[in-house]
Amino acid sequence: MQGELASGRMAGTNSKLATSRLHEMVHAGDAAASASVKMEAQDLNFYYGSTHALKGVSMVLRERRISALIGPSGCGKSTFLRTLNRMNELIASTRLTGTVLLDNHSIYDRAQDVVAIRQRVGMVFQRPNPFPMSIFNNVAYGPRVLRMKKEPLPQVVERSLRQAALWDEVKDRLQTSALGLSGGQQQRLCIARVLAVEPEVILMDEPASALDPISTTKIEDLLRELRNRYTIVIVTHNLQQAARISDDTGFFLTGELVEFGPTEWLFVKPRDSRTEDYITGRFG
Ligand SMILES: Nc1ncnc2c1ncn2[C@@H]1O[C@H](COP(=O)(O)OP(=O)(O)OP(=O)(O)O)[C@@H](O)[C@H]1O
Ligand SMILES: [Mg+2]
Repeated sequence: MQGELASGRMAGTNSKLATSRLHEMVHAGDAAASASVKMEAQDLNFYYGSTHALKGVSMVLRERRISALIGPSGCGKSTFLRTLNRMNELIASTRLTGTVLLDNHSIYDRAQDVVAIRQRVGMVFQRPNPFPMSIFNNVAYGPRVLRMKKEPLPQVVERSLRQAALWDEVKDRLQTSALGLSGGQQQRLCIARVLAVEPEVILMDEPASALDPISTTKIEDLLRELRNRYTIVIVTHNLQQAARISDDTGFFLTGELVEFGPTEWLFVKPRDSRTEDYITGRFG
């Protein structure tokens, strides 16, 4: 995989076409065009053995914007998310071609340190997965492992829990087990854990799908806050949620990115009839 990436054999005509179309779509929105590019996927293909899960996906993720990824089950949303911080490398018998840039540098470049990439591009999963330790130690875990010394740990923990809108609920029980928190609190703790290592991009795979409506609202409010500082990519099955919280939306179908652009455009005036069929509930 790295040999293919290093040789740059993916820079084919299709990729150029896809990329120029993508730029045309993204530049269409003024707000979109004014934000600088944080990450970019170029002609990305991903295989699980013989399953071709991502087919020539190109996407531009802009700074301080929330991008939502939608599409029917099995269309490659989680796979795509994992290619953005090299989590896919943890799965055996997989192969990737194409390029993923972070601040214009390939994250799959041999010289890149995968731990540093995952610190800069954090991930929140569908099911909250706190470690079986205290609330404090959950949040302090990343800074300890990465030996971050800039800020005293209690300060990092408080800042992260405040940013994740959880501080007031847990400040008197920081030394108790994180497993004693409710599902919604656990998910905000997982967000605090990601924030503690000062990421630049936050990937979220259906972060609210296991939560009740009140917790979901809290997560959505939190996303709006975080948007001021981070680049956020969120997978959601909830089209209303995508419309409510995202600036850009991408629609995936059987491994292809059918359409990507400003959310309002995609929902109001999709360019592709397959997108229209999906958002009007004709399939999926
Ligand atoms: N670990 C894996 N091993 C083999 N195949 C996989 C693996 N993970 C995903 N796939 C396959 O890759 C394709 C894309 O899956 P992916 O999980 O990315 O879809 P998704 O859009 O996230 O779906 P959902 O909405 O159900 O979460 C599917 O065909 C899936 O079966
Ligand atoms: Mg998924």
